[in-house]
Amino acid sequence: MAHEHGHHHHDHGHGHHDHGEGADLGHGPGAGKRFPFHKMDRLDSAERQARQPADKLVELVAEGRPETILDIGVGTGYFALPLLDALPGAKVTGLDVEPRMLGVLVGRALERGVFDRVDTFEVPRDDAERLPTPEDAFDAAIMVNFLHELDDRPGYLAGVRRTVKAGGRFVVCDWDAEGDAEHGPPLEIRVPVDVATAELKAAGFEKVTRHDLYPNFFTLVCE
Ligand SMILES: C[S@@+](CC[C@H](N)C(=O)[O-])C[C@H]1O[C@@H](n2cnc3c(N)ncnc32)[C@H](O)[C@@H]1O
Repeated sequence: MAHEHGHHHHDHGHGHHDHGEGADLGHGPGAGKRFPFHKMDRLDSAERQARQPADKLVELVAEGRPETILDIGVGTGYFALPLLDALPGAKVTGLDVEPRMLGVLVGRALERGVFDRVDTFEVPRDDAERLPTPEDAFDAAIMVNFLHELDDRPGYLAGVRRTVKAGGRFVVCDWDAEGDAEHGPPLEIRVPVDVATAELKAAGFEKVTRHDLYPNFFTLVCE
């Protein structure tokens, strides 16, 4: 599956502007910016592991010793599964709009013997920008390579603030708008780090600290 198409000379690994076979044009707001399932292999590729190795972000999240973690736009579990390894008592809730991503996540969790520590939450495609999780439910939340896929960031981030417990941590990592355009989504749809920081503060996170975990990505720890 997920074969490359030769005509994509400058394929940036995302579905944006990709109106070809299998592109997730989906339904409802935001659908055109969504990472398409047929490119799933890229989420776990060796190239990605070199560019954005999971262990660095996992360490940052694990520092707070969370027991309940929400992974927003969990994909195949690139971060969720190593997080479970790093935090043996913890549970991860993986939220995604794409049921096939959640299917892959569940399969991998079963293989690794951590199925009992994974919950999945499928959000409806036509109402994907309303976070359905309960208030004060998680010690930590993460959102990786996802922020730029949202249409209503302020509304969504306020929802994240509500679902994370007071004193909890929210870690956001996304493509740097000032990074190189070689990989990742087009520069013009990336969220500048100062815009992201201001929006996170407006959503109610009092302290937003930037970490440089990976070149070409920003990572913000919000408390
Ligand atoms: C680029 S992938 C990143 C996956 C994972 N976070 C990682 O770092 O490997 C973005 C993921 O967000 C999901 N997604 C996009 N819009 C969403 C929404 N509104 N709600 C939930 N998931 C969404 C996509 O289906 C996809 O699995």
